[in-house]
Amino acid sequence: MPIDTAYLLDCLTLLLRWLHVIVGIAWIGASFYFVWLDNSLRKPTDPELLAKGIGGELWAVHGGGFYNPQKYLLAPKQLPSELHWFKWESYSTWLTGFLLLSTLYYSQAGSYMVDPAKAALPPAQAVAIGLGSLVLGWLVYDGLCRLFIERSQLAFAAVYTVFVAAMAYALNHWLSGRAAFLHVGAMLATSMSANVLFWIIPGQRKMVAAMARGETPDPIHGKRGKQRSVHNNYLTLPVLFCMISNHYAFTYSHQQAWLALLLIMLAAVLIRHFFNLRHKGELAWRYPAAGSAILLGVFIWLAPSARPQATSPVAMAPTLAQVRPILAARCLACHAAKPTLMPSAPAGLVLDSDAQVLANAARIHTQVVQLHAMPLGNVTQMTEAERTLLHQWFVAGAQP
Ligand code: HEC
Repeated sequence: MPIDTAYLLDCLTLLLRWLHVIVGIAWIGASFYFVWLDNSLRKPTDPELLAKGIGGELWAVHGGGFYNPQKYLLAPKQLPSELHWFKWESYSTWLTGFLLLSTLYYSQAGSYMVDPAKAALPPAQAVAIGLGSLVLGWLVYDGLCRLFIERSQLAFAAVYTVFVAAMAYALNHWLSGRAAFLHVGAMLATSMSANVLFWIIPGQRKMVAAMARGETPDPIHGKRGKQRSVHNNYLTLPVLFCMISNHYAFTYSHQQAWLALLLIMLAAVLIRHFFNLRHKGELAWRYPAAGSAILLGVFIWLAPSARPQATSPVAMAPTLAQVRPILAARCLACHAAKPTLMPSAPAGLVLDSDAQVLANAARIHTQVVQLHAMPLGNVTQMTEAERTLLHQWFVAGAQP
């Protein structure tokens, strides 16, 4: 039996996505754990610990064992023979993410990245914009970090937010909504991984090398590492939203989707801030309250407009017999038991029979009429007249 390349691609993305989620959990889990640890440490009372240079410690019980992590003010006097590093969690998350982005988006840019209603870009140009955003995102972020290392971190956050807003705006105007959201997330996540690769790990290496020479490590490495890892911590929730946003067409299909994205990410940062403060013993409920209010406001704002009344009497409404040829021409290349443009029907949605169309009428109406999210990238060139006919059929009761 000949092996279908589209099917192989499906298997490949399955493995990549699975792996990406696994290593992502390991990375973000470690990040959450260390921020929690740092914020929960208490100054030791034992004079022996203080003399050793311990600045904070805590006690925890997990999985039937008692743990007593201790953090040195600067570094231990003697380097331990075995030291654990945390870097592959981050590198492997970026690598699997980039491979997934390439197999899903860059190799099928025509349908996944280009939205002719926004900009009729050649696929190669859409890919270049996507890749460029990852690089530019890092250069600007890194420059801002250097500029603000001795200045207010709040001022940094304000300037960086303006930059992210500009990128979200630009990407949403050049690329399809789903590609734009994913690239904003990938841009932030690339900077997070680059932080680990270019600053956090090299800084730690320099500290360790200084100690091996019997010198006291320069505290600037610790300071820089801390700045970057705090940023990484605040970026986790916004990035995770971008990564799952593709399942929610109502977020990325809106006319002002870039603003919706920005507000959702802001809400995520506020909620993250609450947890960071809570570890230190402060319960600042105003942050999650503000975050939830923003999310609620965005959901209300994005709600598709209420269904307009049928313009024609039901007797004159289009029939399923008129709808079927449209779906056949515009959808079945993907949504069929044996699709030609996809290895298998996306979202499990097959529209071959009357019964399947009727059962999914509301889903079809939402994606095609309300959100304009389907046909994907409008590769099958559905017309406005066809969307209107579908709409009239639906509001008249989606009769067989
Ligand atoms: C080029 C391929 C392609 C074409 C053509 C296409 N779709 Fe899709 N469709 C997809 C993909 C891919 C998804 C999965 C999107 C996702 O993962 O969120 C999808 C998902 C959907 C969903 C499910 C969304 C959800 O999560 O509930 C609906 C409904 C849908 N399409 C309807 C249609 C209709 C109706 C047409 C024709 C007018 C159409 N599609 C044409 C590729 C296509």
